[in-house]
Amino acid sequence: MIELQGVDFGWPDSRETLKDISLSLAPGEKTILLGANGSGKSTLLKLLNGLVTPGRGSYRYEGRAIDKASMADRQWLRRFRQEVVLLFQHPEAMLFNPTVRDEIAYGPQRLGWTNTDERVAYWADQLGLRPILDKAPFTLSGGQKQKVALASILILEPKVVLMDEPSASLDPRSVGWLVDFLLDTEATVVVSTHNLSMAAEFGTRCLVLGENGRLAYDGPVGPAMRDMQLLERCNLAHRHRHRHGAGEHTHLHGHEWESS
Ligand SMILES: Nc1ncnc2c1ncn2[C@@H]1O[C@H](COP(=O)(O)OP(=O)(O)OP(=O)(O)O)[C@@H](O)[C@H]1O
Ligand SMILES: [Mg+2]
Repeated sequence: MIELQGVDFGWPDSRETLKDISLSLAPGEKTILLGANGSGKSTLLKLLNGLVTPGRGSYRYEGRAIDKASMADRQWLRRFRQEVVLLFQHPEAMLFNPTVRDEIAYGPQRLGWTNTDERVAYWADQLGLRPILDKAPFTLSGGQKQKVALASILILEPKVVLMDEPSASLDPRSVGWLVDFLLDTEATVVVSTHNLSMAAEFGTRCLVLGENGRLAYDGPVGPAMRDMQLLERCNLAHRHRHRHGAGEHTHLHGHEWESS
């Protein structure tokens, strides 16, 4: 469904952000994407969403190359934008409609779908947004904005859902909803996270971006979580001093999670 081959990508004026990335994602596969700050998680998700295109190598979605030419094909782009969606790390970037209702309805309206009102009501109920449907998105809290952004992409019934740190600003109940959604949905999903304690709930396959923009790991999530050398090398686990009762000692930690 998604196929990257030897992809390099660099932002202008910066060293290569992604280097020689090859991977394929099968329909329905649930993958988590790990990596330290600045390792290129958001960049990779933007690339999968067609917002940037590979400098070298190729990205194919359902067999078709995603490049500047295909992104200029309006009909294809329309299909791609409905089927492959991205929840941004900072969802403010996505919200521009006067009300939450308009925001969620925007995609289906553009696609000319019928019964938009019912669809909006369904997703508003799913995410507990009904009480704030008439509010202006910019007046909402960070977590509320994230849920509005989530509703506005899931309403499109996408085949591929890319989520950039969705759990960072969601409360535990909303994260629980997200985990249930991921268990139920047939969509192919890639979720980036720093939250190692949640990683195994978000997916079964794990990609770790290491130094120099290369993939340091691609495999099942369990072994990756137990591989402290991998996690430390990729700056996902760290050593710091801390206290247990009266004593003080140092051992290796994952963020919000520890191995022993
Ligand atoms: N729009 C941009 N223009 C130029 N450089 C960028 C842009 N976005 C990201 N970068 C650079 O690309 C590199 C990777 O950034 P990216 O946002 O993909 O990392 P990340 O893994 O998502 O980090 P974080 O955990 O902090 O979200 C960084 O060096 C960053 O400065
Ligand atoms: Mg990021």
